[in-house]
Amino acid sequence: MRSNRQIFLAGILALVALGLFSCRQNTEERQMNRFVDSLMSKMTLEEKLGQLNLPVTGNIVTGQAQSSDIAQQIRDGRVGGLFNLKGAAAIREVQRIAVEESRLGIPLLFGMDVIHGYETVFPIPLAIACTWDTEAARTTARISAVEASADGICWTFSPMADVSCDARWGRMSEGFGEDPCLSSAMATAMVEGYQTDNLADSTSIMSCIKHFALYGAVEGGLEYNNAEMSRYRMYNDYLPPYRAAVEAGSGSVMASFNTVEGVPATCNRWLLTDLLRDSWGFRGMVVSDYTALQELREHGVATDKREAAALSLQAGLDMDMVSEGFFLLKDDKSQIPYINQACRRILEAKYRLGLFADPYRYCDTMRPAGSIFTEGHRAEARRIARESLVLLKNENSLLPLGKNSTIALIGPLADTRANMPGTWAVAATPWRYKTLREGMQDAVQDKGKVLYAKGCNLTYDAELEARATMFGREMRDSRSDADMLTEALRIARQADVIVAAMGESSEFSGECACRTSLDMPDSQHDLLEALKKTGKPIVLLNFSGRPVVLNWETENLPAILQVWFAGSEAGDAIADVLFGDYPPSGKLAAAFPRSVGQLPMTYRHYHTGRPLPDGQDTFSKFLSSYIDSPTSPLYPFGYGLSYTTFEYSPIQHTTDSRTATFSVVVTNTGSSTGDETVQLYIRDMVSMPARPVQELRQWQRVHLEAGESKTVEFNVDYATLGFYNGEGEWQQPEGEFKIMIGGNSKDVQSTMIVVD
Ligand code: NOJ
Repeated sequence: MRSNRQIFLAGILALVALGLFSCRQNTEERQMNRFVDSLMSKMTLEEKLGQLNLPVTGNIVTGQAQSSDIAQQIRDGRVGGLFNLKGAAAIREVQRIAVEESRLGIPLLFGMDVIHGYETVFPIPLAIACTWDTEAARTTARISAVEASADGICWTFSPMADVSCDARWGRMSEGFGEDPCLSSAMATAMVEGYQTDNLADSTSIMSCIKHFALYGAVEGGLEYNNAEMSRYRMYNDYLPPYRAAVEAGSGSVMASFNTVEGVPATCNRWLLTDLLRDSWGFRGMVVSDYTALQELREHGVATDKREAAALSLQAGLDMDMVSEGFFLLKDDKSQIPYINQACRRILEAKYRLGLFADPYRYCDTMRPAGSIFTEGHRAEARRIARESLVLLKNENSLLPLGKNSTIALIGPLADTRANMPGTWAVAATPWRYKTLREGMQDAVQDKGKVLYAKGCNLTYDAELEARATMFGREMRDSRSDADMLTEALRIARQADVIVAAMGESSEFSGECACRTSLDMPDSQHDLLEALKKTGKPIVLLNFSGRPVVLNWETENLPAILQVWFAGSEAGDAIADVLFGDYPPSGKLAAAFPRSVGQLPMTYRHYHTGRPLPDGQDTFSKFLSSYIDSPTSPLYPFGYGLSYTTFEYSPIQHTTDSRTATFSVVVTNTGSSTGDETVQLYIRDMVSMPARPVQELRQWQRVHLEAGESKTVEFNVDYATLGFYNGEGEWQQPEGEFKIMIGGNSKDVQSTMIVVD
């Protein structure tokens, strides 16, 4: 026991340390301010506007526009940064032009969409969220930063903190799913991983929270569409992950393409200034999305690009990606204070990154060889990829497969290299990644046999397939459908088990890859039906960048493993799980619907006055239900099986005036080891406004040997049970709460507590 005197002394020491820390911070801030003041005093208005300009260059173009004569613009001080240019040597050369050939030698920012890895590619973010492992998320960001920073990049346009409950939207792949609490934890971990606590470290890169705000709620799941909702819903359901990432210290934010309350985010002053800066205290820089500034004309809020630029600048936008619109304001004196403010924020970002101290700190051409796609990074990518796979069904323990079996590996995703990393992996080097076939072959070696046939194209529709395999990921076979099927059936008949590698190609999801049907594409469905007729057991490895509809597959196939797009090491990682070297442990970060007609859907929905009775899922006249479908998803949020089984004891709890502790004993009741993610949900029984029927608040991952039991304890501070009102003020919790604990959002134990 520590004496009062010791506690007192420890308190004094902590205060002194805090004082010294904030003193150092203040000194650093003062130094930065002095530096920026002095630099800005030398800048012409044109040069200041140049800092606000982020033109596109390089060999990677993500939209329609491409700027020319960048080098001359840089010499003229008309460029603040560039993005998606790859390679330390190339970047060093461009930085040299800025530093040595422009009048003031201001270094450039080099940004890139480093979304889920650089050359070592991790699973798509939606899959990372399915690990429910924030340390894993932090590791992915850390390694991405180490690799990208070694190759000249100091700024990533990640993490994407957009909550989405609508799998029609192709960009669900880039976010952390349907839940604001899980998304907040993941976004925070990613920011911390990219930036560390020292942005000036040469392995740290500046993160960019996007797409601010509400982009995941686009109507109809349609890309670039509008997103409208009450502020009450914004504050509680969509804004928390952005806010968490701001609080984690992200140096930048990207405005979204959509409108919020009728005003495009790019020029929405309430969002970019009142909320982000005045209310949340954000002190970094805000960049537009690609050509979003000039798109204000199409939005119908500005008559021309000049007006669009003025509206955006005054709203709080600092940097214009691609539109090159801010130069149009150079003769408008009323804009000068806004131009100064934006320029200062961009220079501050460069200062914090240490670019003024050493403009070449990110382009040491000796670094890439020892830092990129290293064995160590790949081992982490393989480990995290395994953790992200979700076992949806495993009848009669068909999985894991024995390595000594004869396996017929069939499907358009079985032997493709280009599709392994998934969408938004701009720095990927797919020619170095294994296909699934290679991963499986390496796992079985000469113990068993992996026979292979493609079986069919991605879809019968060649045009759709071309759209879903853009950016050099073509996979269409010129053989006839009948020939491919014959070959597949021939090898299926020789095998003990069929492994079907099917689903989406990587560009079937991602930006501007929205779907109105989420069923297995036609040709692949037909192939599955034909394979089923052989009577051989079938394991479906479902590749997709979003939740999809798997009704037929669930009814007809004994085993389904959701493999997403698991990155550069996917081939090995999938084989690890398939053959039981590692048990599956992923849990869905977004539910799989029964039909697109249910979308948007979330377990976290609000009450209706006419709910179905507990446990009932089918139609009931004049109750909230569908006439032609159950209301529940096919696979709920938080769901995922293991090769073993887990049993939960009833919940025990103790409470005091400020906190409650809930515990359950989780037992591994099967015969192999496994990891279980134990989830705690709450329901505020009566409040005004009403709260959702269920909300995730905490979770813990536990590792259990066969037969082992562990007590899992959650400490819940009552303050965390509250919610935001429509003005964004946190409401203290009060009254009765239902606490639910279980292995997914549907199968839970519950208990009640009262908070006064
Ligand atoms: C458009 C996308 O919406 C955004 O996420 C991305 O960062 C930019 N293009 C830059 O490539």
